Amino acid sequence: FAAVDVIRAKRDGGRLTDAQIDWVLDAYTRGVVGDEQMAALAMAVFLRGMDAHETARWTGAMIDSGERLTLACSRPTVDKHSTGGVGDKITLPLAPLVAACGAAVPQLSGRGLGHTGGTLDKLEAVPGWRAELSTDEIARQLEDVGAVVCAATPTLAPADRKLYALRDVTATVEAVPLIASSIMSKKIAEGAGRLVLDVKVGSGAFMKTREQARALAASLVEIGAAHDVATTALLTDMGTPLGAAVGNAVEVAEAVEVLQGGGPADVVELTLALAREMLALAGLGDVDPERVLASGQAYETWCRMIRAQGGDPDAPLPRPRHVHVVEAAESGVVASLDAYRVGVAAWRLGAGRARKSDPVQPAAGVRCLAKPGERVDRGQPLFELHTDTPEAVAAAQPLLDAALVLKDVAESGGSGHDAGH
Ligand code: URA
Repeated sequence: FAAVDVIRAKRDGGRLTDAQIDWVLDAYTRGVVGDEQMAALAMAVFLRGMDAHETARWTGAMIDSGERLTLACSRPTVDKHSTGGVGDKITLPLAPLVAACGAAVPQLSGRGLGHTGGTLDKLEAVPGWRAELSTDEIARQLEDVGAVVCAATPTLAPADRKLYALRDVTATVEAVPLIASSIMSKKIAEGAGRLVLDVKVGSGAFMKTREQARALAASLVEIGAAHDVATTALLTDMGTPLGAAVGNAVEVAEAVEVLQGGGPADVVELTLALAREMLALAGLGDVDPERVLASGQAYETWCRMIRAQGGDPDAPLPRPRHVHVVEAAESGVVASLDAYRVGVAAWRLGAGRARKSDPVQPAAGVRCLAKPGERVDRGQPLFELHTDTPEAVAAAQPLLDAALVLKDVAESGGSGHDAGH
């Protein structure tokens, strides 16, 4: 093959053959096809698309670029993936909950980039906790505890690692076949036999509209079917941050509240909804996750999961050097709270990173003290900004001022559920 022929075929709207797809991804991984050629092909795919067969084959070729784990376990294994959002700490309560219900959850996760947080960055706020595990350690912990949240090894889908970095700088991220194959190649390579996808839709998500999110969900499920992975998808709202906490330590604290029987209603609700889907796929549909959560067993499993990775679940979480409170300038009802702006504010405060190599501040983040539908009085705290770098407050506060829209109490009739946004 010649790379130009593959690029030209897709550029002109043709369908790539299995052999072309296998060859181009293998040659790209080995450095025989260069970044400039792959960039052109990614743009051609972005503009022309790929059908379900091409997308499934593309996914398979990315899996074959690396190692495929087989995590043997005496319990049924089931995994969850979220397409990413703001305040999305659901993995933290969900993995131990589903494990406490009798399944095994191997959750190989990533770090945050841009305005969306990463599960590993959040867990690293727990003193002593370590993200990097060997394959043997993952297998042992899966058997003993039932839940592992750790870093994906670099041997999983290396073609995706390379291609994702290239897409990031060539404006070719937001293409359904490329996103779907990227996500599924990593999940299938890690050995997931059953998978629940939380496809986010709204300002804080990759997919801003329901149509886009539905197309992505359909593609993800199709790829799962083509690779014998039982896959279901939920479409969930990411127009508003999940829960109150956005950041690292603040999100861990909120996840622990949920595991101890409290926490914000939206976080509890989504955790239970995803747990039910996962248990149904694992053949444990008769276990009630709500009862297991209330029994304290999920919290116990959390403590064992944290200890197994060197963390101390009882140690105080890091505190920020500086806390700044934003108060309501007037009374009203919260009409909307924009997830994207809150995510960027938390990022500016130090919770996220601008480049892959940057460190994050474990204590940085935002606590949203008023959510849509709630009435607030003048002077009432709306946000708590946590940071070790107080000069960052000036960058974050205008974003939060724009994120929260208040309307008159009279106009809303006191209910606030008819916000016209
Ligand atoms: N997440 C991924 O893993 N890949 C994408 O392309 C987008 C989101």
